[in-house]
Amino acid sequence: MIDFKLEIVKLLKVDLPQEEIYSLLSKTADESFGDYTFPCFKLAKSLRKSPVAIAQDLANEFPCDGIVSKVEAKNGYLNFYLDKVSAQADILRNIESAGSTYGESNVGQGKTICIDYSSVNIAKPFHIGHLYTTAIGSSLYKLYKALGYNVVGINHLGDWGTQFGKLIVAYKLWGDDDKIAKGGTHALQEIYVKFHQEAENNPQLEDQARQWFAKIEKGDQEAMRLFELFKGITLEEVKKIYTRLNVQFDSWAGESFYNDKMQPVVDLLKDKNLLKEDNGAQIVDLSDYNMSPCLILKSDGSTLYATRDLAAAVYRKQTYDFDKCLYVVAYQQSLHFKQFFKVLELAGFDWHKDMVHVSYGLVSLEEGAMSTRKGNTVWLDDVLNKSCAKALQIINEKNSSLENKEAVAEAVGSGAVVFSALQNAKIKDVVFSYDKMLNFDGETCPYLQYTHARCNSVLAKAPTLNVPVDYSALDNAESWTLVKLLNSFEETIATSATKYEPCLLSKYLIDTAQAFNKFYFEHRILTDNANKTVALLQVVKSTQKVLKKGLALLGIATPEKM
Ligand code: ARG
Repeated sequence: MIDFKLEIVKLLKVDLPQEEIYSLLSKTADESFGDYTFPCFKLAKSLRKSPVAIAQDLANEFPCDGIVSKVEAKNGYLNFYLDKVSAQADILRNIESAGSTYGESNVGQGKTICIDYSSVNIAKPFHIGHLYTTAIGSSLYKLYKALGYNVVGINHLGDWGTQFGKLIVAYKLWGDDDKIAKGGTHALQEIYVKFHQEAENNPQLEDQARQWFAKIEKGDQEAMRLFELFKGITLEEVKKIYTRLNVQFDSWAGESFYNDKMQPVVDLLKDKNLLKEDNGAQIVDLSDYNMSPCLILKSDGSTLYATRDLAAAVYRKQTYDFDKCLYVVAYQQSLHFKQFFKVLELAGFDWHKDMVHVSYGLVSLEEGAMSTRKGNTVWLDDVLNKSCAKALQIINEKNSSLENKEAVAEAVGSGAVVFSALQNAKIKDVVFSYDKMLNFDGETCPYLQYTHARCNSVLAKAPTLNVPVDYSALDNAESWTLVKLLNSFEETIATSATKYEPCLLSKYLIDTAQAFNKFYFEHRILTDNANKTVALLQVVKSTQKVLKKGLALLGIATPEKM
């Protein structure tokens, strides 16, 4: 990024520390007041002059030849106008020389961040509720990598709990291997639902389930064989979805991984006098912090979700020595995270302050668009399939001779689903609409992909030109707005990551695509002046690069042609 603010600070001769000048200097909201503005009110006291007079003096002294073409004193402010042409030339040369690393930085060098995301439950189909955590977590994973962090992506699989005892009973009674081989988790879910229906009239089933779960806990061979079977089926299925969504993990250590790692944590809590008995159960009382107690052991001695999260946190700190550990989980679990972070604090772990619950809202489908395969639950593979089928239909209507139509439809359809989860501030509840998300003209993923393909098609038509660049071709409002946006790519990546808001990048990409399309419709790019054409093509090339990389950071593919 070219930091024009810094360039101005170097040239502005006022009696204040450079950092202070830097923080006072801000971008103007309205371009008719220039690009940056400096308020002179702070200087009035020491200079014993009015801010209006100070601004005027500074304006008279300022050297307007390089990057700043004009300064103007207005109401106690000093307004700077950048030289549009030379600023754009600097930005475009910078983008060119950064190559494929444009937008990346090394601010995170030497720091480690763990991100717990997706964290699906074994033996359950991938449900649309897990789309948000998967899309947001995966994007944060890529964003932090672009900032130079060492990132550990963790899928904290939900692979422990009494439900596996129930599933074994259901499998023994009604399991059909052929059906399970074909239906996968959907077939497992079916017999699990049946278990609950039958158990209402036959409570004995619950006892059997408890016995089977006890067997899993003891590592009984038959119990473990079935448990691993269910786990294998689920993983095979979710990995297919992760491939479609460009999602990666470095660790698949799920809840069961911590079976032998909880006792030391329980012992520690006991040593610190934090455990209290409550009706036979062991809890940490959090009433001093206005929270309900954190359950550590049930009355039968078995562990809970929180116990496993405590053990996992300690394990992650020991294994990765993280600087931050993020949990991308729905806001319904806010209390759980507050409680378990508090218990870490009370247990004396000073790194409790590095734990962050990145929470998000609910995703639901528009009325009528519901997939009704399973009542009210919406499976992600159904959503992806439907979105990709609709994308193919649209492509057939718009451009039926397109090569690799199916592959393009897959990129457009699944990209639209991911983008709709990353488009809004994450705490907002989202209502999903296929028509809205696949609209090629709205603020949508296909619009971004289409704009990217438009850049490609201009570049493909361009002749090879080995002539000096005439940047005066960029002396217009449209390219100025666009190129300034291209310059703030790195900054956008950084704030999207540190605020845990990939939607900032989504919004930035929409702005950039809209600015590009304005530029494209206002200006002929392949002109008969080769020197000017080269400059205009550099704008197109840089836009293409930013859109491609920006979408990749959201986990979205960019087809070459559309
Ligand atoms: N499997 C859990 C669920 O689906 C999410 C786990 C989140 N991660 C964690 N460490 N608690 O609700």
